[in-house]
Amino acid sequence: MKQMRALLLVLVFFFPAACHGWGVDGHYIVCQIAQEKLSETTAVAVNDLLPDYAKNNLSSLCSWADHVKFIFPWSSELHYVNVPDDSCTYNYSRDCKDESGVQGRCVSGAIFNYTSQLLTYRNSSFDIKYNLTQALLFLSHFVGDVHQPLHVGHTTDKGGNTIDVHWYTKKTVLHHVWDGGIIETVEEDFYDSNVDDYTDALNKNITGEWSDQISKWQSCSGNQITCPDIYASESISAACDWAYKNVTEGSVLEDEYFYSRLPIVDLRLAQAGVRLAATLNRIFS
Ligand SMILES: *[C@@H]1O[C@H](CO)[C@@H](O)[C@H](O)[C@H]1NC(C)=O
Ligand SMILES: *[C@@H]1O[C@H](CO)[C@@H](O)[C@H](O)[C@H]1NC(C)=O
Ligand SMILES: *[C@@H]1O[C@H](CO)[C@@H](O)[C@H](O)[C@H]1NC(C)=O
Ligand SMILES: *[C@@H]1O[C@H](CO)[C@@H](O)[C@H](O)[C@H]1NC(C)=O
Ligand SMILES: *[C@@H]1O[C@H](CO)[C@@H](O)[C@H](O)[C@H]1NC(C)=O
Ligand SMILES: *[C@@H]1O[C@H](CO)[C@@H](O)[C@H](O)[C@H]1NC(C)=O
Ligand SMILES: *[C@@H]1O[C@H](CO)[C@@H](O)[C@H](O)[C@H]1NC(C)=O
Ligand SMILES: [Zn+2]
Repeated sequence: MKQMRALLLVLVFFFPAACHGWGVDGHYIVCQIAQEKLSETTAVAVNDLLPDYAKNNLSSLCSWADHVKFIFPWSSELHYVNVPDDSCTYNYSRDCKDESGVQGRCVSGAIFNYTSQLLTYRNSSFDIKYNLTQALLFLSHFVGDVHQPLHVGHTTDKGGNTIDVHWYTKKTVLHHVWDGGIIETVEEDFYDSNVDDYTDALNKNITGEWSDQISKWQSCSGNQITCPDIYASESISAACDWAYKNVTEGSVLEDEYFYSRLPIVDLRLAQAGVRLAATLNRIFS
């Protein structure tokens, strides 16, 4: 156990720029926004599940799921979902499966999975089937991923992973522009490369600009605890309207793309944080 934990720590600290999902900063921002919105009961439960070295600090482990892809290879397909190339909508029964066709193995299926595992927390003395620390870290990460528009992208280009572009002068792929490029550029240009200042600016809009939308972001129809299919539908819609739009192989993306797409990135990070908190509050309260 000790060795495993040491290995995990090493993985977390020495592979900081893994390439799937929002980058490290994106996930950190999502969890940082969520953390401040946890109810008292939820914060206690979350803290109980966090390992000793991360008490009161969910955001420090929000990229954990990216770093365990090596030791849990089965988890790598849970970070995203692909939809048919000619579609801009998401359909769980059509789309949520892995490459061999196993139903439910995709990012929204994983969110349902880890939500229902965490619901056993209240009853944990009856049910020790799951490692709820891992369930918490997977859930917190995947709620972030499902909000990254290109994590619900098209099949053939693997969510923009096969589309070569330049981000300003840097050679990359479209997927990475959305994982990290736009976030890094906004931090450098406007926040002195300080991720906490960017997070503060998002929080300001959550209590200002967007305040009248928050309850809509939080709510799921019926008595659902979480509604990842809605989050995924919004993502593919934003992917078609913004991420893929006007981009072809070899495109040079710079200011025009950056300034027009930044509001989408701002919005998706904020929504992910608000919804992660709402989901955790419904699970634990
Ligand atoms: C949370 O963890 C990060 C990285 O591990 C660390 O830099 C930060 O100081 C911690 N914050 C708190 C409040 O403990
Ligand atoms: C979703 O996909 C399933 C299976 O392909 C299909 O039967 C169903 O009609 C689709 N639902 C919608 C709303 O398109
Ligand atoms: C559900 O969680 C278990 C435990 O981590 C994992 O083995 C399984 O692959 C997960 N399935 C999905 C669809 O997330
Ligand atoms: C907790 O577990 C007991 C025994 O398995 C079960 O009867 C009860 O309904 C469970 N409570 C909740 C809240 O799941
Ligand atoms: C649960 O998972 C965490 C993170 O991988 C690990 O550190 C911990 O030892 C595991 N707990 C148990 C009881 O296996
Ligand atoms: C906050 O909202 C203002 C006004 O719409 C906008 O100009 C600014 O870019 C937003 N900032 C963030 C970080 O969302
Ligand atoms: C795509 O390009 C057209 C033509 O230059 C332009 O009018 C339109 O605003 C662009 N759309 C987006 C979302 O960038
Ligand atoms: Zn991911």
